[in-house]
Amino acid sequence: MWLTSSSIGRKFVMALTGICLVLFVTFHVLMNSVALIWPVAYNMICEFLGANWYALVASMGLAALFIIHIIYALWLTVQNRRARGTDRYLVNSRPPQVEWSSKNMLVLGIVVLAFLVVHMTQFWAKMQLQELCSHELTALPEVAGVPASPAMGTLFLQLAFQQWWTPVVYIIGFVALWFHMNHGFWSMFHTIGWDNNIWINRLKCIGCWWTTIVIALFVAQAVVFTVRANQNYYTTNYALQEQYGEYWDAQATAATEDFEAAVQQVMKSVPENDQMAMQQAQIKFFSEDAQAYVDKFNQIVEYSEKQCPEVSIKGIMQLKRFAGQLEQQINYAKQLAPQSSNTNE
Ligand code: HEM
Repeated sequence: MWLTSSSIGRKFVMALTGICLVLFVTFHVLMNSVALIWPVAYNMICEFLGANWYALVASMGLAALFIIHIIYALWLTVQNRRARGTDRYLVNSRPPQVEWSSKNMLVLGIVVLAFLVVHMTQFWAKMQLQELCSHELTALPEVAGVPASPAMGTLFLQLAFQQWWTPVVYIIGFVALWFHMNHGFWSMFHTIGWDNNIWINRLKCIGCWWTTIVIALFVAQAVVFTVRANQNYYTTNYALQEQYGEYWDAQATAATEDFEAAVQQVMKSVPENDQMAMQQAQIKFFSEDAQAYVDKFNQIVEYSEKQCPEVSIKGIMQLKRFAGQLEQQINYAKQLAPQSSNTNE
């Protein structure tokens, strides 16, 4: 096929995937800008782009773009080196500022890829992947000793940017990305044939401005996120705490529903009109199994109070009261348990 068999076809694939990646990076920097001006809205966007089918399709499409772009880059590099032998840079009709990036596109791409590996580990693996794999509280990454909801991007900004090396790695990645994208623009237009003297200069200028604005925004974001994370802004801000509270409220509801389902199960396990068997099954459940639910309730209460100390959450207050009542019922059931087993004998 033309896209794989000819050199120009392969360059066309590079250009096409390159355009899509530039659009993604531009979308990404705009999304991050929301975190600068309105962190609560940023978390809403993160939630919207979580493990939903449309976000997963987009993520898979994006991964495919990256993979195709990288494979074709390696392919073209090997092909060029074979064709030119030791005189790799013999043809020298490009302007000097383009020349340096042009020779180093592969190395720049590898630096960007290394940055991406760190970046994916810090964010994607803890957010979207986590949401896909597990909903267990104990499996979630912790921020300040409390499990973080995978949808709350600001908690992961806190986790990543409170480490001194994060801004260092990111700035190195951004510089490499600037050179890579800037040359990519030039190369892309060259490939698709828009390279007459008037237009190539205009397009190069647009490409340079585009890249510079995107990278300048990324740098500004890394600086602001680092300052805020080191001031613990993302864990102490009241509006954010209210938002984290919604997660704990939902956890409280889910835990209560789990408990109610377990009680229903116990009721269903004995004949409806056998009062004695019903009573014994309840005593057994409360004396043996209910404590695990109370422990979970208490843990949710403890985590939410630690993560949202300034906010009072209705569901958590109810859960706290419910846990107290259950403790009493458990104690009562434990007192009755030996008697009921005696009766059995
Ligand atoms: C200040 C800089 C940046 C911050 C704070 C940041 C933050 C994030 C966050 C929060 C996610 C969402 C994870 C999820 O929900 O799964 C993400 C995903 C991602 N980021 Fe960044 N990002 C930054 C820069 C970049 C740059 C420069 C690139 C590209 C070179 C990039 C590429 C990606 C990719 C490929 C994803 C995965 C998207 C997906 O499939 O869901 N990021 N980033």
